Amino acid sequence: PGLDVLAKRAGLLYFGTAIDNVVLNNTKYVSIAHNRSEFGQVTPSNGQKWMYIEPERNVFNYSMGDAIVKPGIKAGQMRRCHTFVWHNQLPAWLEKGNWTKAELTKVLENHIKNEARHYYDQCYAWDVVNEAFEDNGTWRDTIWLRVLGKEYIELAFKFARKYASPRTRLYYNDYGIERVNNKSLAVAALVKDYVKRDIPIDGVGLQAHFTVGRAPTYENIKASLNLFIKEKVETALTELDVRLALPDSPEKQAIQAEIYANSTKACVDVSDCVGVTVWDFWDPVSWVPETFPGNGNACLLDADFKRKPAYYAISDMLRSY
Ligand code: G3I
Repeated sequence: PGLDVLAKRAGLLYFGTAIDNVVLNNTKYVSIAHNRSEFGQVTPSNGQKWMYIEPERNVFNYSMGDAIVKPGIKAGQMRRCHTFVWHNQLPAWLEKGNWTKAELTKVLENHIKNEARHYYDQCYAWDVVNEAFEDNGTWRDTIWLRVLGKEYIELAFKFARKYASPRTRLYYNDYGIERVNNKSLAVAALVKDYVKRDIPIDGVGLQAHFTVGRAPTYENIKASLNLFIKEKVETALTELDVRLALPDSPEKQAIQAEIYANSTKACVDVSDCVGVTVWDFWDPVSWVPETFPGNGNACLLDADFKRKPAYYAISDMLRSY
């Protein structure tokens, strides 16, 4: 049985993967990505981002998102949709515009309205806002914060609730919140405030981009998941990968395997952690080498599509339930 089959037996809703548009011409890649028993859920790692969806103001192009969502629906895979509001991968017209608060609010609503309607009922969850906090727990300085002020996050959630299917879960998604620290505490405080004020938020996504040698432990991750669950939202590991410093070695792969298995186990063992998504399953398409030169091999399958120890560690761990 594949990882999703085992994950469901262990009580998760899904075990999923991100899929990148740049490799959709690779038939081997595509057949694994949409293999329902391996991955019960898919996320476009780029295809639904602002620069591709609305490259010119009020001109919408869903081809890149559809190229992943549609085959996902056909294969019976759940979809996590990613992402409405981020500071990265914005189109030039938006980034370079000289916006008033009123105009940018309109731009934000129009984008969420169109994309949420296009994917109406096609997403188990939407990452409504991505990476709004700095590691020290302060608000990240972005075009959204500068023009709209701190209200922008709740505006985004309100627009998402207005236009997305009522069945779609609305998530806040971030990295570096997989242990109790200033950043995760800031996110938990935001969630607490939103729940109290009836701002529609349903979940927190912990990206879980980890590094061999300094990843959080099983206990760290559980403690952080519980921080959010205490505020009455669900959680998920949304972008799990474990990079290592090259050159690769069996020793590093063994540690990597343990980190993958422990992270997944933390989600299985916490009742309101619904699922785990890996940020691609195939080393050659990972985002890691471009962003962290000298690091890589962060995924479950190597360049030859051979399963690495990390794959078997997750599989064995899930079988023990
Ligand atoms: O659009 C061009 C395309 O025209 C060209 O053919 C191709 C050739 O390399 O490059 C394309 O742009 C790349 C884009 O991904 C689409 O493939 C960018 O150079 C590249 O920087 C970009 O990286 C993405 C990154 O977000 C951007 O910050 C990664 O693939 C994607 O995995 C990564 O995902 C983020 C999550 O959204 C949020 N959390 C962190 C995570 C990792 O950074």
